[in-house]
Amino acid sequence: MLKKKMPVAEPYKIKMVEPLMMSNRDYRKKAIKNAHYNTFLLQSQDVYIDLLTDSGTAAMSEYQWAGMMLGDEAYAGSKNFYVLEEAVQKYYGYEFVLPTHQGRGAEHIISKLLIKPGDYVPGNMYFTTTRAHQELAGGTFVDVIIDEAHDAMSVHPFKGNVDLEKLQSLVDRVGKERVPYLNFQACVNMAGGQPFSLANLKSVSAYCRSQGIKIILDATRCLENAWFIKKKEPGYDCHSIAQILMEICSYTDGCTMSGKKDLLVNIGGFLGLRDSQLYEKACEFGTLFEGLHTYGGMAGRDMEAMARGIEEAVKEEHLDQRIGQVHYLADRIQEYGVPIVLPVGGHAVYIDAAAMLPHLSQDQFPAQSLAAALYVETGVRAMERGVVSAGRDKTSGEHNYPKLELVRLTVPRRVYTNSHMDVVAYGVGECLERRNKISGLNMTFEPENMRFFQARFDLISKKKTEKPQTGVRGQICGNSQSTTNNRYADQIKERLR
Ligand code: F0G
Repeated sequence: MLKKKMPVAEPYKIKMVEPLMMSNRDYRKKAIKNAHYNTFLLQSQDVYIDLLTDSGTAAMSEYQWAGMMLGDEAYAGSKNFYVLEEAVQKYYGYEFVLPTHQGRGAEHIISKLLIKPGDYVPGNMYFTTTRAHQELAGGTFVDVIIDEAHDAMSVHPFKGNVDLEKLQSLVDRVGKERVPYLNFQACVNMAGGQPFSLANLKSVSAYCRSQGIKIILDATRCLENAWFIKKKEPGYDCHSIAQILMEICSYTDGCTMSGKKDLLVNIGGFLGLRDSQLYEKACEFGTLFEGLHTYGGMAGRDMEAMARGIEEAVKEEHLDQRIGQVHYLADRIQEYGVPIVLPVGGHAVYIDAAAMLPHLSQDQFPAQSLAAALYVETGVRAMERGVVSAGRDKTSGEHNYPKLELVRLTVPRRVYTNSHMDVVAYGVGECLERRNKISGLNMTFEPENMRFFQARFDLISKKKTEKPQTGVRGQICGNSQSTTNNRYADQIKERLR
């Protein structure tokens, strides 16, 4: 029978190609060992399909490359800055625009501007760099995302929503003067790229405005969030992505932006603000940490490419294909019976490593182990998003044990074809086949901040991995976490049921 629905294909054709290195298993075994079982420490030339991140890895269009030739590399007042400013004003609606070298540059500035030591910063789950800057400024991050976001099996359509009751109880507990702003992230990365709904943002915004608490949007993947609103939220199917984006931003006081995701560039970001006084202060910090307020760490040509990226990224056919490809990968992976976070988000497929490797305790870093095994299997590079990424509690010094122990397969924009996605799914399926042979890891080197980037690991000897302790998990690295790990073991059992 003929299919009735027109398939979604790439709204572009390929003009230039970059050859990939094909390697064999033995080569990859050595490469991952040399990289201390941390995919961040692999050389990219040793990777076949690189799904480490969707950050800065997009293929730019001919329109963006043409814009690069128009770079005005003046120290002050580059014409490309004004093009960028106009694009942000037109699509995001923030009057004041401060370029930054990437998203964390904007996070640094907003944290320094708004947080006083002892303040609390609520957010819909943390992102690593965002929370680090909040803590560096003396703040404490408080998670106010809905409970469903922490449950890999929940199919809530808007797992990025804020739980208003959690927010209210924080404000009641510490006082509104201790809560400078709420960080509202679009397509929540650590939850699996899960969107918020406009209805939720609207009610949270009304509450925050009544309390004098600002809302700062993490707009990094806001266009993908807008796409989900259009597809899933009642009343928005006839709105354009640009209209939804503008409405989202209208409920917020400013945004931090990593242009390296939604905006289809390899480097760049910005801080968007509405308040002129805040902007003036932001310019002072920007000049100090990033560069003058009309370039903020970016070359003129890069600002031009990002401005043009804004125009391209709001097009619905682009988002249909981009998110469609992520969902294509998810479907193929599920055909192999691999457990993934549902619903599938906008930028990545997240494998539930805890459910896939129940023989490993969380202290044996199941997601880190799976990412290393996947590389050996097919040369696919993924990223750990579990206990390693969650770091340690600043007060107790213990690991933060997230409920989700995930491996992220992040799809770069406009880079790979669906044949590549088939290979990735095959590799994940192979890992599932031989999951009992995947051994856990010991951490042998641990940086104090953002440890996941540079931490080093070693394989736990086979004997230990294949003989998990009964009752108390986590004894291999000491048993101080026995309660946490018992809970973790129960959760896994629950999921496997
Ligand atoms: N906010 C979110 C939600 C992010 O995902 C990132 C980066 C940032 C802020 C920081 O932006 O990298 O430009 O400084 N995420 C990348 C990732 C690193 O792989 O998910 P940046």
